[in-house]
Amino acid sequence: MAGIPLRRGGPAARIAVIPGDGIGKEVTPEAVKLLKAVTSVAERPIEFVEFDWSADKYLRDGVSLPDGAVEMLRDEFDAILFGALGDPRVPSNQHAADILLGLRFKLDLYVNARPVELLHDRLTPLLNRHEKDVRFMVFRENTEGLYVGVGGFFKKGTADEIAVQEDVNSRKGVERIIRYAFEYAKENGLKRVCMSDKSNAMTFAHDLWQRVFKQVRAEYPGIESRHLYIDTLAMEVVRDPGQFDVLVTCNLFGDIISDLGAQLAGGLGLAPSGNIHPGRTSLFEPVHGSAPNIAGKGIANPLGSALAAGMILDFLGWKAEAKAIKAAVREAVGQNYVTADLGGTKRTAEVGDWLGGTASKALSSN
Ligand code: NAD
Ligand code: IPM
Ligand code: MN
Repeated sequence: MAGIPLRRGGPAARIAVIPGDGIGKEVTPEAVKLLKAVTSVAERPIEFVEFDWSADKYLRDGVSLPDGAVEMLRDEFDAILFGALGDPRVPSNQHAADILLGLRFKLDLYVNARPVELLHDRLTPLLNRHEKDVRFMVFRENTEGLYVGVGGFFKKGTADEIAVQEDVNSRKGVERIIRYAFEYAKENGLKRVCMSDKSNAMTFAHDLWQRVFKQVRAEYPGIESRHLYIDTLAMEVVRDPGQFDVLVTCNLFGDIISDLGAQLAGGLGLAPSGNIHPGRTSLFEPVHGSAPNIAGKGIANPLGSALAAGMILDFLGWKAEAKAIKAAVREAVGQNYVTADLGGTKRTAEVGDWLGGTASKALSSN
């Protein structure tokens, strides 16, 4: 992923921080601490501005994504560090739809990059699979598909009720994510791109995916490209994950396959993601949600958020600092300095402090 020129010029960056709900509020401060630790060693300033957009605010003020928020983020920030949204007190999930899906759509963050990388053999539930076998990138289309919220009810609440949810796929939208997947493979020396759809059943929407894929793949003769139906892909990713480098798929399938991938690499607590529009303000977050079942206990795994912070630095072109974060996470896993979900005994903040110390020490000794 190419770096972008910092919005305000010079060496400083502005990062908007949206911790959100549940464990988002616990892991995000750890990632901020880590970003501060690695950038203070490098003497490159980052300015953080926190926003309290959350279920609490929605329930208190009736406001989810405030007016003007999208323009402010777009014009005044280089990146967004996001925690998670979701609260049992908001069963409709309306605030999450407004804020998270709102930012994905309104900032046109069409690439949802979800790396799956096994950092230690012991973390995969698969038998006889090793680090080298579980390493692929999922590119999830992030602005269309079944997520656009087009649809409605007819005769709601009656025995004759009908619910319609439209699957919206544009040629432009499909083409840009497929092309991004090929470009990413090319730039990173990866040989294999797999596009996944359900064109055998979704004969309009995914016929478009088929036709665009055929057109784009022809432009990349050096890359081995293939197609798998999503049901087969789910099976193949479990049977032999080593056969994949880059996956590209639609919004809903990408959501599902990225959780499956996360589990192959140690679980949701470790998985980061980037919601990206190359060259524009982009949003980074762990793949996991607000985890109400463990929220407030101080035991959430902060590594997914830490890796998302690393992805921010990578995106902004701060390569050494990004590498230091990734190395520190790998070392925490290697030394079992981790939370209970990964089999450790450490608390969220202990892991966060340890990461900051380890990453900044590594940078200052370089
Ligand atoms: P979840 O990701 O919150 O939790 C799934 C399971 O993984 C739970 O057992 C949880 O304890 C565990 N888990 C997740 N992250 C962890 C971490 N960092 N450390 C340790 N364990 C972790 O998914 P869910 O339970 O289906 O959803 C809960 C809420 O979060 C819902 O409201 C959902 O809509 C929302 N959600 C939000 C996002 C997001 O904001 N990007 C993503 C997924 C789910
Ligand atoms: C994710 C989440 C969201 C999604 C939900 C909270 C709407 O599961 O970021 O993966 O489906 O995109
Ligand atoms: Mn998800």
